[in-house]
Amino acid sequence: MAHDLAFGIDIGGSGIKGAPVDLDTGEFAADRLRIPTPAESTPEAVAQVLAELVSSFDLPKKAPLGVAFPAPMDHGVVRFIANLDQSWKGVNLPELLHETTGRQVTAVNDADAAGIGEQRYGAAKGKDGTVLVVTLGTGIGSALIVDGVLVPNTELGHLEIDGFDAESRAADSAREREGLDFPAWADRLQRYFETVEMLLSPDLIVVGGGVSKKHAEFLPLLNLRATIIPAELRNAAGIVGAAAMADTEASKGRKRKH
Ligand code: BGC
Repeated sequence: MAHDLAFGIDIGGSGIKGAPVDLDTGEFAADRLRIPTPAESTPEAVAQVLAELVSSFDLPKKAPLGVAFPAPMDHGVVRFIANLDQSWKGVNLPELLHETTGRQVTAVNDADAAGIGEQRYGAAKGKDGTVLVVTLGTGIGSALIVDGVLVPNTELGHLEIDGFDAESRAADSAREREGLDFPAWADRLQRYFETVEMLLSPDLIVVGGGVSKKHAEFLPLLNLRATIIPAELRNAAGIVGAAAMADTEASKGRKRKH
């Protein structure tokens, strides 16, 4: 660990949230701040909100900045985006945010960040084998961690199942949009997770996203071979994981310089 503190930001479809993270404990070092995502979620508008958020905290100059973003990150470049403005395509996120914040930025997929958060500090801590962290929110995010190593950008929310983009049927936003009760939504989750299980045979599935606080309503209804448990960091996982990943990047950079 290179720093004691890093700043994590989670960019979502409805809110942009950030907090300084104590990297020893994985806890917030100050209260989290949330600013609603601008209705027109263009790169310029989001970058402005993010700069405002970062400047509201009194951060050490060298604290690394980790940003969790709801798209696969191809070495910092957004190639595909489902749930924010389409003008993000082709944008280099660390470059854009470096311009607006003046800080070094590490940008990672939001579900990968949540996965690393759970692995370092939460429900997947100390778990070997194939661990899959799935976030249920506006979309479905996935983080695949094999014997402690993240396989980034797996995008399992966009599997095509029964002719549908999986997240359009099984994300938490689909439950809300269609007014599904938990048993009806659990049927969709069952179909989703059994497909994922057929493809990857995970040993452990950790379910995150805001709705995971209501896990008692739907996890017991699922019948899978893998152990399936709720996330421990819940909605904080993206912020915490992004901060931890920024610290890892910063220490790699430091080693390269020596
Ligand atoms: C995106 C993923 C993201 C997930 C959760 C999906 O639509 O393609 O990159 O992890 O939503 O935000």
